[in-house]
This record gives sequence, C-alpha cells and structure tokens, in this order.
Amino acid sequence: MDLMDRIKSNARQYKKRIVLPEGTEERTLRAADILTGEKIAEIILLGNPEKVLSEAGKLSLSHIGKTTIIDPLIHPDKNKYVKMMVELRKHKGLTWTDAKKLIEDPLYLATLMIKAGDADGEVAGAINSTGDVLRPAFQFVKTMPGISVVSGAFIMILKDKEFGEDGLMVFADCAVHPDPTESELAEIAVATAGTTRAIAGIEPRIAMLSFSTKGSAKHPMVDKVVNATRLAAEMAPDLQIDGDFQADAAIIEKIGQSKAPGSSIAGRANVLIFPNLECGNIAYKLVQRLAHAEAIGPILQGMAAPINDLSRGCSVSDIVNLVAITANQAAGK
Ligand code: ACO
Repeated sequence: MDLMDRIKSNARQYKKRIVLPEGTEERTLRAADILTGEKIAEIILLGNPEKVLSEAGKLSLSHIGKTTIIDPLIHPDKNKYVKMMVELRKHKGLTWTDAKKLIEDPLYLATLMIKAGDADGEVAGAINSTGDVLRPAFQFVKTMPGISVVSGAFIMILKDKEFGEDGLMVFADCAVHPDPTESELAEIAVATAGTTRAIAGIEPRIAMLSFSTKGSAKHPMVDKVVNATRLAAEMAPDLQIDGDFQADAAIIEKIGQSKAPGSSIAGRANVLIFPNLECGNIAYKLVQRLAHAEAIGPILQGMAAPINDLSRGCSVSDIVNLVAITANQAAGK
C-alpha cells in the first residue's frame, strides 16, 4: 500500500468531520463527492444549500446529498459563534457588529466551528489566498501548547530511493513563516518531527540546513541555525537532530562523513529544516520540478486543530488527499 492509500485507509477509520468553506466551487464539490462516496471523512460544505445542490446536480454528483451543508448567512449556531468571536478577540477591539459580519465569511465560520468542537478540521484555499485562509485560523484556533508558530511541511516522494527513507523525505517550513527567529526555527523542527511520525509514518532524522557545515562558515545566519539546533534538542531531548549542515552533507553519506565525521544524521537525514521560507519554498519547488518528485502538502503544523491550505491551482485529487491528511492530523491531535 502506498503512502496516500495508507493515509486514506486510516482516515476511513477515524470518521472525522472536515469542513470545506468553498462549498460551491467545482473542484471542492467533486472532491466532497469522492470523499463522501469513499467514506474518507464526514464532509461539511459551507455555502447556500440551493446553490450547492444545483451545482452538484449540474456536475451529476451523487453523494453531495449525504454531506452536511451549512448556509453561512442563516444557521441556528450563528449567534453562538458571534459570542465566541467577541469573547476571544475583544482584547483586539473586535465588536459584536464586526463579528456579525465576519461570521458570514465561510473562512471565519469554518474556524469558529472548529473552535466550538462542531468540526475536527478544515481544508480551503482552492479560490482563496494563503493569507485569507490562515488569518482566521491564527486568530481563533491559534497554536498548540508549546508552539508559537505555524509552519508548513511537504512530504517529498523522490524517484531516487537512495535519499531519505527509501526516497521519502519531509521538508519544512516551505509555506508559512517568512523569517523565523532561532527559537521559532527550533519549534518548526519539533513540529516537523511530529508530522513526520504521524503522517509520513517514519522516525525523523533531522538536518538543520545552512550554507555552512559544522561551523565551516562564520555568519549570524549560521549562528541562528546552530542555536536553533541546540534549542530544538532541549525542547525534545529524544529528537535525532543535528546541524548546521549544507544540503549535500545532510543527504549524501560520503559527503556527510567527510564534512561532519561522527554525526549520526550527516548523510542520512530524512527531514530537512530550512533556515527561512525563501529557502524552503524555492527548494521544494525545485526538487518537485527538476527531480520529478511528488510533493504532498503543504501540511500545516503547530495549529491547535488541523487547518490546511490548498494551492489555487489544486486538482480534485489534491483536495481529496489533503482532506485525508487533515483527518489523520485530527486523529493524532
Ligand atoms: N504562526 C502563528 N500565528 C501567526 C503566524 C504564524 N506563522 N503568523 C502570524 N500569526 C498571527 C499573529 O501573531 C497575529 O495574531 P494576533 O492577531 O492574535 O495578534 C495574526 O496571526 C495576524 O498576524 P500578521 O502578522 O498580521 O499576519 P498576516 O496575516 O499579515 O500574515 C501570513 C500571515 C499571511 C501567513 C504571512 O506570514 C504570509 O503571507 N506568509 C507567506 C505565505 C505564503 O505566501 N506562502 C507561500 C505560498 S504557499 C506554497 O507555495 C505552497
């Protein structure tokens, strides 16, 4: 069974309620139909019910009638969520009038449903930007205990099986936090270890990447990676983590042994933590395109409940896969 099949099969057992705020969008509807038909998750669609059902009819989808459809403009829990919003954000000046408007935005409604325990996770972003999907999540769902920063990991499935764990690697942060401090970078490493175990199903060996290997270059940017490595090891003493490493020293055994002799990670890493978002986002896209690797993600990590962001160029199967991953994250929460 390949990795995605295993993730879907696990999701079927968990029966998690996943909310899709872009409920009238064609790819979302097609994905909801497959997810419901294959019983991968219990789907909640946000949108005008008549419109959702008429779009589903036009697309000849047969399972949408079995989903829960909630109209963001009129539903029985509207005031309950407005009250929660005001309680959670009054220190930021959120008024009852503002909250009543915001709750009609499906992206806000989805996060409040999660906060209230009425849904287990969310997938959105087929027609909304990353910022618009994440902002309500940051404001209302917030981060998990011990983690202050949300980040995004990719599971990279490489054609060349000599790298990582039989060709499987995890990269982070490739999607969210532009310029982490050293303690935030340490948190990203710890959160990625959790994603690697829970979703990729392998034991992480983490390389903290830089343009220096074991102090070969002196620069404040290198110091940040060295300090983050130490802090991550303090946060999670059982973690197999080492750095600073250049990328070749992290993944190629011979180079690792010569540049970082004695390191148990050098040349054997299956998790790569990048020093900032520029490096992480560029690296995953280059590996995906130049090495024809499959990139599964971004899997958002560090949030108190699983909320995942799609690329606007996503396919129906990308949505199906990300919902299955979200259900697995919800089960491991
Ligand atoms: N983790 C947790 N909370 C965060 C984070 C984070 N990474 N970033 C911001 N926040 C919180 C802030 O603390 C703040 O909370 P508060 O209102 O309770 O005080 C709230 O979110 C808003 O903070 P802002 O700094 O105003 O954040 P903003 O909304 O402007 O930006 C965003 C957040 C959109 C995620 C920004 O960091 C961003 O644009 N990141 C890059 C995303 C991106 O474009 N990625 C590449 C494409 S994805 C891909 O290629 C797969």
